[in-house]
Amino acid sequence: MAIKVTIDGVEVEVEQGTTVLQAARKAGIEIPTLCYDERLAPFGACRLCVVQVEQMGARLVPACSSPVVDGWIVHTDTPLLQKIRKTVLELLLVHHPLDCPICDKAGECKLQQLAFRYGPDRNRFLYGQERFADPVDMRSPLIERDTNRCVLCGLCARMCEEFQSVGEISFVGRGFTSRIGTVWDRTLDCEFCGQCVAVCPVGALTPKTFKYRVRAWELESTPSVCAYCGVGCRIVLDHKGGTVYRVRADTDVGVNIGALCGKGRFGFGYINSDERLNTPLVRKGEELVPAGWDEAVAALADGLKSAADRYGPDSVAALISGRLTNEEVYQIRTIFRELIGSDNIATPTADGTFPMLDAVREAFGIGASTLPYEALDAANCYVVLGYDLVASNPVVANRIVRTRRRFYEEKRLILIGPKRGKVGVYADVWIPAPARLIPDALAAVLKVMLERGWASFDFENSDAFKQGLAKIDIGALAEALQVEPKLFEDAAEVLHGFSDAVVVPAGFAFAPDLNRRMAEVSANLVLALGGPARSRGMLVLSDRANLQGIYDQGIRTSPLEILRKIESGTIKALYLVGVDPTVHLPGGRRLLDVMGSVEFIAVQDLFRTPIANLAGVVLPASSFAEKSGTFTSGERRVQKLNRAFDPVGNSRPDGAIFEALSEKLGGKVEWNPAALFARIAGEVESY
Ligand code: SF4
Ligand code: SF4
Ligand code: SF4
Ligand code: FES
Repeated sequence: MAIKVTIDGVEVEVEQGTTVLQAARKAGIEIPTLCYDERLAPFGACRLCVVQVEQMGARLVPACSSPVVDGWIVHTDTPLLQKIRKTVLELLLVHHPLDCPICDKAGECKLQQLAFRYGPDRNRFLYGQERFADPVDMRSPLIERDTNRCVLCGLCARMCEEFQSVGEISFVGRGFTSRIGTVWDRTLDCEFCGQCVAVCPVGALTPKTFKYRVRAWELESTPSVCAYCGVGCRIVLDHKGGTVYRVRADTDVGVNIGALCGKGRFGFGYINSDERLNTPLVRKGEELVPAGWDEAVAALADGLKSAADRYGPDSVAALISGRLTNEEVYQIRTIFRELIGSDNIATPTADGTFPMLDAVREAFGIGASTLPYEALDAANCYVVLGYDLVASNPVVANRIVRTRRRFYEEKRLILIGPKRGKVGVYADVWIPAPARLIPDALAAVLKVMLERGWASFDFENSDAFKQGLAKIDIGALAEALQVEPKLFEDAAEVLHGFSDAVVVPAGFAFAPDLNRRMAEVSANLVLALGGPARSRGMLVLSDRANLQGIYDQGIRTSPLEILRKIESGTIKALYLVGVDPTVHLPGGRRLLDVMGSVEFIAVQDLFRTPIANLAGVVLPASSFAEKSGTFTSGERRVQKLNRAFDPVGNSRPDGAIFEALSEKLGGKVEWNPAALFARIAGEVESY
């Protein structure tokens, strides 16, 4: 029901249950806060947000935690409120060391800003002149804790518990000795998502990667996309002079709701590494020697072309990183298919995702997730399949866990997989199936539903599926899994009552058949529950930032196929773009033995990988921070990367190298991200 309130003379209509703070924000009126975060339940700790309400007389109302009442007349910035806020700040500063000149939060500290605004220039409440003298906790490799600076807003602890579902930190002590601590004061032993650091309004929690290295106001900020997994979290790169100092979640774009995982937030050191390749290398006899770009690209073109001329186009292969942009994928695909005539392009982790996308395409007509991440909020059941979604796609996994916990009565969670992990801790039913039996375990659940008439199995081509279900021996399966058969009934019962289910199959590397079966049964579950809908469907995520984009451009070859061709001696020239097969493919370093039959190897990478020792050409590539383009996320959202700074040293973006290579091969594919994207959009529906 809509109600009306007047805030600072502005009438605003809001839904019942809206807080004063939310209503004020809707009216464009700012109320100061220190302990509020819209993603968390109101806490009411700091009292900076107090307002006056005419109907409440002298009683002050905390705006962040008080729902408005129809007809309220609210004042947010009276002389009395200013005085109260000034006093609150004085009290907070009793225990706060005034070490702003050397604090890493200076310039973006909320306490500093509020003190500046409300102006307490001296403190009437000195507490025996003493400050906390807690030693700064520097034991954690990533997060430094200086409890002396803590204003006890509780944001970090609530973020860790409510949002991240970890509960690693909490209030300890009482009264003046309250502080944020860990169990038994141990060092942080957690997911290192850094969410606590991100919300701390002062310099009590700071990232070590940032400490004493740069001032906040010197940084340039560039919005981009995380280049690790396929969730596609929006990030902001804070950098200066070609060095990244910090990665933050982009809170202006809702994809990841301001969350990042440890990889996304802290895993940027490689961009700044001194070990990065800096100049092209060309083999001269036994040695790789520095060369100019033109010479190196000519050697690359010659190596690929010579093999194609001598042994045929099928003798040339490329293994490409799942972190190439869509535009770069378009270029390498064009080079291989049109200029060399080879279809031997694969990405190492394709088998973890592509067979699942194939199954989804066959079932629903699109080779992609059937719904966006926000559907997780509307759904009432989550079915997670696989090894460990928290490890492969942390931000989505945590969103599932968080939503399940927050809506305890309304939502359910089922996990089928070998590892209980964090998802399993909050699951209503966990079926501990080893990888190879996950599809059977889910099928057993469907069999129970079929037998009890709990789902509709009259979808197209369901007869063959039903025949398959008939063959499942639930008793034998339960015995193999060492569980009670009732576990399958429990899961079926959950799905019977909570049918707006999102199924998230997390694929296994190099197990294409298993992944395909897992996705096929998942798709049949969705169909049996009524088919894809706004809050029912499948989310297919990948472990690399742009696997969806690579799939969408029709690069579907299994890396195992390329591996077989290498082992059989078919491949004579191998172009490795951000990939080292001895690291990224099964077989590891033993692969070095079979590489002997490959006459020409070219490595294009940020680092000198082990395989580079066998290469004829080594080309220094740029990181994602040094280039523009797009990635396609697991919800098939095409997102833009922005170049934060120029390529480091003499490195070049992959796209620039592809352009030079294509020119040498006689058919220039220009690296113009906007033009290339337009071409992709002309080919791929929904781009
Ligand atoms: S880094 Fe993440 S998991 Fe660790 S204490 Fe902070 S919020 Fe909790
Ligand atoms: S450490 Fe930071 S976020 Fe946590 S309670 Fe203290 S001031 Fe608030
Ligand atoms: S969940 Fe994936 S995309 Fe998001 S920050 Fe972590 S690694 Fe990056
Ligand atoms: S923001 Fe309302 S009490 Fe802190």
